[in-house]
Amino acid sequence: MNNRDGFSSRFGIIAAAAGSAIGLGNIWRFPYVLGENGGGAFFLLYLAFIVVIGVPVMLSELIIGRRAQKSIFGAFKVLAPQHGFFQLIGIIGVTTAFLILSFYSVVAGWTVEYTLLALGNQMADKTPSQLAGLFTDFSTSVWRPIIYLVVFMALTAAIVIGGIKNGIEKYAKILMPLLLVIILILCLKSLSLEGSGEGVLFLFRPDFSKITGNVVLVALGQAFFSLSIGMGTIATYGSYVKKKENLLQTALSVSFLDTFIAVLAGVAIFPAVFAFGIKPDAGPGLVFVTLPNIFNQMVGGYYFSAAFFILLLIAALTSSVSLLEVVVSYFTDELKIQRKSATLLGAFLMIILGTFCVVYPRVFNGFEWTSSNLLLPLGGILISVFVGWFLGGANVRNELEAHGGRASYVRVFIIIVKIVAPIAIAMVLLNNLGLI
Ligand code: PFF
Repeated sequence: MNNRDGFSSRFGIIAAAAGSAIGLGNIWRFPYVLGENGGGAFFLLYLAFIVVIGVPVMLSELIIGRRAQKSIFGAFKVLAPQHGFFQLIGIIGVTTAFLILSFYSVVAGWTVEYTLLALGNQMADKTPSQLAGLFTDFSTSVWRPIIYLVVFMALTAAIVIGGIKNGIEKYAKILMPLLLVIILILCLKSLSLEGSGEGVLFLFRPDFSKITGNVVLVALGQAFFSLSIGMGTIATYGSYVKKKENLLQTALSVSFLDTFIAVLAGVAIFPAVFAFGIKPDAGPGLVFVTLPNIFNQMVGGYYFSAAFFILLLIAALTSSVSLLEVVVSYFTDELKIQRKSATLLGAFLMIILGTFCVVYPRVFNGFEWTSSNLLLPLGGILISVFVGWFLGGANVRNELEAHGGRASYVRVFIIIVKIVAPIAIAMVLLNNLGLI
């Protein structure tokens, strides 16, 4: 147990977990699902879910991981050998990793295409409607998206084989802050566009009549997806966290950073959406048809757009490696396949599934919907029920107080994971299944 690898610093843990959390979910998915689900009211619901459910479930995962010192499969064998039922969380995790990574890699492939378009200066001087046409032509063609999907999967696999710590993580620590700076500049530019005010109102002025059962579900699913919770990814990272670290602080910092980047992406995109007459409910292409318009209006837009898409690609990679790692750890730990073969096998299967996502948009939508709106929340229920009811108060207290202090919030946390989170998630799910 003691020779287990570990993060060397607090910054390392936060950077790794934030690297998993911050990705296409913040910059590609958040704006487009918000646009499809009515704007401000969705945003408030999303924030509420992050605070009330997201942070406690993330904390639960960190507790499970650090307590067990194992990845999500082994964890329940150690922590609750008598409750084999909870190994379901591992099974849900692997299934979800397959579904998410296959459509995620397709979108990351779009990012590769846009990086090349930006480098070749092929978007400059195009009108908003030409840019919209460019995206439709590309995403409905078959070969190019498949080739980029393969390229992205190959990059992900290469990193997972080579180890995360000395590769991607080292660079991510430098490059993620750079991404933040570029998004901040984009926000300022977007806000300065004529007609941008309407976009700000769309994002921040809630219209509660827009809230339906489905909107609530999508907001919950987006909270899970964006925080990388509900499938054991964060639990796996938790197993590398040293005993002296404060887990609540980690969960709060990662959730804050993740939400902050999503909000900035919203502020960068919606003012421009309205200024350029793009429809906010344009769907998955929203970011790709909106941002090039902003770049075209900027001094140095060529450099900004190339840098932005490269950094977005890196943000996607720091997330995709954590997804592939879930599958690889299952193959190596449970099926006893060697790491290299396990990675190649996982990547190969993802490419096949991803190809279906490219060719059949219904598969893409189906994978996206099922993973975020069903499997992750289901995993969230099981994780919180486990920590609340089965792990035992002493274990939980020990993890939360391990850094030396007294954790005064333990009671609140236990009430949330015992009762509030599972019931709230279950109600949202049941409501959407038409059962309540
Ligand atoms: N949180 C990532 C994003 O927002 O892009 C996506 C993701 C990564 C989801 C890892 C789940 C996961 F386990």
